[in-house]
Amino acid sequence: MSNASKRKILITSALPYANGPIHLGHMLEYIQTDIWARFQRLRGHSCIFAWADDAHGTPIMLRAQQEGIEPQELIDRMKAEHERDFQDFLISYDNFHSTHSEENRQFAEEIYLAAKEKGNIVIKTVKQAYDPEAKMFLPDRFVKGECPKCGAADQYGDNCEVCGATYSTTELKNPYSVISGATPIEKDSEHYFFKVSDYADFLKTWVNSGAVQKEIANKMNEWLEGGLNDWDISRDAPYWGFKIPDTKDKYFYVWLDAPIGYIASFKNLCEREGIDFDEYWRNDASGNNNTELYHFIGKDIAYFHTLFWPACLKAGNFRMPSAVFCHGFLNVNGQKMSKSRGTFIQARVFLDHLPAEPLRYYFAAKLSNTVDDIDLNLQDFQQRINSDLVGKVVNIASRCAGFISKKFAGQLSSELADSELYQQFIDAGESIAQNYEDRRYSKAMREIMALADVANQYVDEKQPWVVIKDENRQHEVQDVCSLGINMFRALITYLKPVVPELAKKSEDFLNAGELSWASVAAPLKSHEIKRFKPLMTRIEEDRVNAMLEANREQLAAAAALHSKTAKNKDSQLGKDPISPTIEYDDFAKIDLRIAKIIKAEHVDGADKLLQLTLDLGDEQRNVFAGIKSAYDPADLEGRMTVMVANLAPRKMRFGVSEGMLLAAGPGGKDIFLLSPDNGAQAGMRVK
Ligand code: 2FM
Ligand code: ZN
Repeated sequence: MSNASKRKILITSALPYANGPIHLGHMLEYIQTDIWARFQRLRGHSCIFAWADDAHGTPIMLRAQQEGIEPQELIDRMKAEHERDFQDFLISYDNFHSTHSEENRQFAEEIYLAAKEKGNIVIKTVKQAYDPEAKMFLPDRFVKGECPKCGAADQYGDNCEVCGATYSTTELKNPYSVISGATPIEKDSEHYFFKVSDYADFLKTWVNSGAVQKEIANKMNEWLEGGLNDWDISRDAPYWGFKIPDTKDKYFYVWLDAPIGYIASFKNLCEREGIDFDEYWRNDASGNNNTELYHFIGKDIAYFHTLFWPACLKAGNFRMPSAVFCHGFLNVNGQKMSKSRGTFIQARVFLDHLPAEPLRYYFAAKLSNTVDDIDLNLQDFQQRINSDLVGKVVNIASRCAGFISKKFAGQLSSELADSELYQQFIDAGESIAQNYEDRRYSKAMREIMALADVANQYVDEKQPWVVIKDENRQHEVQDVCSLGINMFRALITYLKPVVPELAKKSEDFLNAGELSWASVAAPLKSHEIKRFKPLMTRIEEDRVNAMLEANREQLAAAAALHSKTAKNKDSQLGKDPISPTIEYDDFAKIDLRIAKIIKAEHVDGADKLLQLTLDLGDEQRNVFAGIKSAYDPADLEGRMTVMVANLAPRKMRFGVSEGMLLAAGPGGKDIFLLSPDNGAQAGMRVK
């Protein structure tokens, strides 16, 4: 490829928050971005993928407080966890930085000061909810109360999850601060606003320039027509973020410095690798640049990326993105990912049970360039991998390689048996490439699988396993299988951005160096391949089920910890929010019994559980209890406790749990198993 046609591209994914684990919804985007990056590189272009953790904001500050650590320690830990997930999902990023970095502070200040200089910043006094106990202003999500319409308890300040009503925080009845439980008061504060409307004309042109998908541009046009409000970019101390220059206790709102993290991460990479920063982020004297910049994001944050972000870039004298690519949300089994259904699947839990490439392929087979939601149907996922990747693609190599190794010492024929057929594989390359380029991955996958069908049909028709029996037709088998191997090679090349490990193993087997898009046009002739080893195995249903079960367990443990922590905080302040009342009949359904722990053991592979054998007087029960963090099994044996004896048995990854123990406490080391006084006997009913 000549230098003139070699593109220089910089791409980003949205920055994940540094206070929680990566889940498959995140992975959909990172995989989409990564496939695009790998595709561009396979075509001979330069494509840098730089991003970061989104490390600022109130939730991160509070989570660190809850854990009793400094925010820095939390974000360092999260970053390491996040990067491990990315690497294991084969994300080929060039840099993963943090928004809590010196580079980011400098660029945030630079953009803010440039905007201020241009007169885009105004200061206004606003009334805001304030927590008098915690002595801090409360973001909307930190005020809860009763719904003004239906009275449901514990509703957020914007809408009611029970009746669906929408309202403002001030309308909540009996509001309380989620942080301390105190009743919030209203307090005045000076805030800094960015007058995005100063850029309204510029944004109107940019949003409709083709840089934004039609459906997103339409939405943004509506906002633009309605008039843009000033954007509140400051938060009061205490806040975890960057101090605004020349202020005493004002901080940049997390969403101001988050996208600036794209620039900061790239700058950090430039320093390390000697890349020309300005070439990617500034326009030249004529207002152009010869590099491309793309942001991959979810549709929920389009507003930030297609209005606020270009306005910030413009204010700060940076170049505009070449385009912003929005995708839809990930559903699981036809519904929104849900913690209660156990379908809020964490990346790490998935990886503990299943390899990354099948999911990469499945997402590719579903992704388009629209903002439509994507459904991960787990049964379809399993079948699709087994039928497409294992049954069609890898199958071609495994059907042909054996003959070549055993009968022809690994040698491929000197000519293609059917060059017209192979030409079909070369010709398809351009259309497949265009589909990758346009992010129509599902179309690309369909084209590749159609070619795989053609290859399999060819081998079916030629029946090398029959022909091989005829001593005089041996060379035909070599020819057919050589073509088969070359067709396999073309398919793997086209799939390489999606399944890089499979491609690597195939490169080793084909023994002819790295596959590139261009190499498809030069098939392997008179070439020795290596012995074939299985390249990919089928996915069995049990593994998918085991993954789901482990995920449920993980979610339940996290939820238990969360509610215990929240309740504990409330009770310290003498406010223990009581759950909604139940009728006596509901209570009477619960059969509480005294149980004697006769055996307690660790469970192989479980982080939180102990396995207990409980004596109920006339029967024994097997129960898994999430109390490992607080108890040594040896200390439990012989103790009396209380259990729910009529809870329906639950199948877990490690076995069936036949009941539940009662315990209290905030979690961690502080979980206290209920222990009745001496005299209680196993099996007694608790009244
Ligand atoms: O919505 C989110 O998860 C944000 N952390 C995304 C930030 S993307 C960019 F602007 F930094
Ligand atoms: Zn309501």
